[in-house]
Amino acid sequence: SKFDFGIVGLGVMGRNLLLNIASHDFAAAGLDLDTEKVNSLQQEADANHTIEATTDVKHFVELIQQPRAIMLLVPAGKPVDSAIASLLPHLDKGDIIIDGGNTYFTDTDRRFLELSEKGIHFFGMGISGGEKGARFGPAMMPGGDQKAYERLRPIFEAIAAKVEGEPCVEYLGNGSAGNYVKMVHNGIEYGIMQLISEIYDLMKRGYNLDDATIQKTFEEWNQTDDLRSYLIEITGKILKQQDEDGSLLINKISDWARSKGTGKWTSQNAMDLQVPVPTIDAAVNMRDMSKTKPERIEAAEKLVWNSNPSDVNTSEAIIALKSALYFSIVVTYAQGLAQLHTASKEYNYGLNLETVAKIWRGGCIIRATILEDFRKAYVAKSDLPNLLLDGGIASKLTQNQAGMRAVIQFAVQKGLPVSGLMNSLSYFDAYRSANLPTNLIQAQRDFFGAHTYERIDKEGVFHTQWAE
Ligand code: 6PG
Repeated sequence: SKFDFGIVGLGVMGRNLLLNIASHDFAAAGLDLDTEKVNSLQQEADANHTIEATTDVKHFVELIQQPRAIMLLVPAGKPVDSAIASLLPHLDKGDIIIDGGNTYFTDTDRRFLELSEKGIHFFGMGISGGEKGARFGPAMMPGGDQKAYERLRPIFEAIAAKVEGEPCVEYLGNGSAGNYVKMVHNGIEYGIMQLISEIYDLMKRGYNLDDATIQKTFEEWNQTDDLRSYLIEITGKILKQQDEDGSLLINKISDWARSKGTGKWTSQNAMDLQVPVPTIDAAVNMRDMSKTKPERIEAAEKLVWNSNPSDVNTSEAIIALKSALYFSIVVTYAQGLAQLHTASKEYNYGLNLETVAKIWRGGCIIRATILEDFRKAYVAKSDLPNLLLDGGIASKLTQNQAGMRAVIQFAVQKGLPVSGLMNSLSYFDAYRSANLPTNLIQAQRDFFGAHTYERIDKEGVFHTQWAE
């Protein structure tokens, strides 16, 4: 019998996705050059799971029924090109290749053109949810060749996470839309992770809360509509995980964070599009800052700030911290979604941000109950340029801003680094400034470079002979 679907790359994501597909009664073939990965997957084949794994590309392609659907789950960059090159001699016109990795969107645009010349349908599809998501229900962000997607829709809808019966997968838009949306998803992921870590730091070093109280607070926050989300949920779990000796594991993990680049791409491309995403930028910066460990140890001795001891009411502090976390998380989503709004026009993606918010409600790393509020905001106004302009969201932010400001004041007084929180508040304060001091910057540009400026009282472009 012929197989419905093929997966190239049987690492954690590929293997789990293939098992997910097979558990939904689709016959799935897998290809990997690593015999161990192939053998271990083959052992999962049984009466209920039609699986065949192989190291032989020709055999793999022959297993799949035509027109074939083959998904690549290999590291982004060169490995994707080599996987495509190894498949091509065995494929036929009309076959579909899906790139399920964290591919940079311009690579997808290039491959789309190269493959369409050969009659192969190609589309990029961001997949989120980590190992467990891949196995039991990820969020998936497909874009590109819509006809090809439609053919595979039954498989993807079957294996996706569901929220109130709706699958967390839907066609998003033209070209590299799927990879672009996944990239921004990751930028938001970086931002939220940074914000949670700053709140944790304020609890620990700022308010001197004990580990158990900190853990319990995150667990409780995850029971509230404002903060219930995957990243808060895992934070509560992480903070109670014990090491072998019974002590808390978190206190033994080094503060040196790695990254694979998707957050940085989000910031880089936001700058190209001239869309401000300062919380995401701060998150990328702080991962880089984390790598300056030896310098920080030296600087800790030299750059001393003795903060005044302050009387704190712990329960009030926790309420303010909750406001600050809610406020800054919403502002982070607003930045990412505003980037998507602009990118959609710039790259002709034709994105519907209501669909993006809908897909992100489940399965993915940034899933959260508040995404339902965002979805509603786009239902009310589909071309909303920024979530902060939605009446409901604006009023909830306004309610939480006193707590946000109190937390920043406390952090500044204590000398604790909170660039994610600060950048979120500054973004909010800049966005609600009908007049910014950029008039002075325009004047300076004209003063030293005759770069000209516009006026508020007259039409036209002006240059002044400034008095030296
Ligand atoms: C997901 C994640 C995932 C990403 C990791 C690691 O949605 O499942 O975004 O795709 O690879 O989060 O990212 P960094 O290594 O850059 O932290």
